[in-house]
Amino acid sequence: MRSDANIAGPMTDPVPGPRTESTGEDVSRETPPPMDDTPIGRAAQLAVEALGRAGEGLPRPEQTRIIVVANQKGGVGKTTTTVNLAASLALHGSRVLVVDLDPQGNASTALGIDHHAEVPSIYDVLVESKPLSEVVQPVVDVEGLFCAPATIDLAGAEIELVSLVARESRLQRAIQAYEQPLDYILIDCPPSLGLLTVNALVAGQEVLIPIQCEYYALEGLGQLLRNVDLVRGHLNPTLHVSTILLTMYDGRTRLASQVAEEVRTHFGDEVLRTSIPRSVRISEAPSYGQTVLTYDPGSSGALSYLEAAREIALKGVGVSYDALHAHIGAQSNPNMVEGIQ
Ligand SMILES: Nc1ncnc2c1ncn2[C@@H]1O[C@H](COP(=O)(O)OP(=O)(O)O)[C@@H](O)[C@H]1O
Ligand SMILES: [Mg+2]
Repeated sequence: MRSDANIAGPMTDPVPGPRTESTGEDVSRETPPPMDDTPIGRAAQLAVEALGRAGEGLPRPEQTRIIVVANQKGGVGKTTTTVNLAASLALHGSRVLVVDLDPQGNASTALGIDHHAEVPSIYDVLVESKPLSEVVQPVVDVEGLFCAPATIDLAGAEIELVSLVARESRLQRAIQAYEQPLDYILIDCPPSLGLLTVNALVAGQEVLIPIQCEYYALEGLGQLLRNVDLVRGHLNPTLHVSTILLTMYDGRTRLASQVAEEVRTHFGDEVLRTSIPRSVRISEAPSYGQTVLTYDPGSSGALSYLEAAREIALKGVGVSYDALHAHIGAQSNPNMVEGIQ
């Protein structure tokens, strides 16, 4: 596996071809302002969208799937992917826990979870051995979605963990002792490969790597993959990279499709066919303490995360996305998979 990519080509060369959206700054198609912009109107709209896209009967895994969302680069869409995939899976009918393992607490914020310094948090779980059940909070807007928040205390945990017993497997132990039934646990990692990320890799079975479609997209990935190999070899034999998700995909640029092609060449089937478009709605949602699924359920960002969640759920039970779509016809929006062969 190469650790870097030499992606030639200008950064902003527009290319004719399939487009997600009409022209404009934001390439995503957003929902027109709702006729009834009230909480009830919103809730009704959400319900309609969720029912329309959630596809009743989407398979739930037999055992809890623990997915580590990792990439030591900052700003590639780890947190955005964690919270929006988690909300999508919950809207598909699953029970989902988000573990916020980044001291910044962005996932907690995006899920509307209070995480000021006094709130019981994942720090207490890792460092003070507090049971996970004592820090998990339900996410108000989305049934079946829960969050173990991070507070600023977690910033000290990288250092404090060093001297503790079983420092690499404290999260794994906490998750194993957690008795609530869950279909998925998604762990949002900080942008580093320190002990917090190692704890996530020891606790999980699958690694999901979000890759931003930009120059140097693959730089540093070799290091992450080597860490995954090390953890698999020494601490967690079941760990594997199961999923690559292309984020902030901008169909107007040749660069984005070049990066997508490069990523496919390296990772093949692990790359989801659905890519996530760059969308203003996705970036706005966290400031309202919401995922894009509740903030603007009809936006291209919401629909693409629902579609990505569907792919992940199907892959988990060995159903081919292609076969399914051949079967149900062009039910999904073809724009969702644009740029992907
Ligand atoms: N698909 C997207 N469209 C627009 N903005 C996005 C998208 N995905 C992420 N962002 C924005 O990019 C920034 C970095 O994303 P984030 O998920 O916080 O990355 P990370 O967790 O890897 O540091 C945030 O401001 C986020 O709102
Ligand atoms: Mg983050």
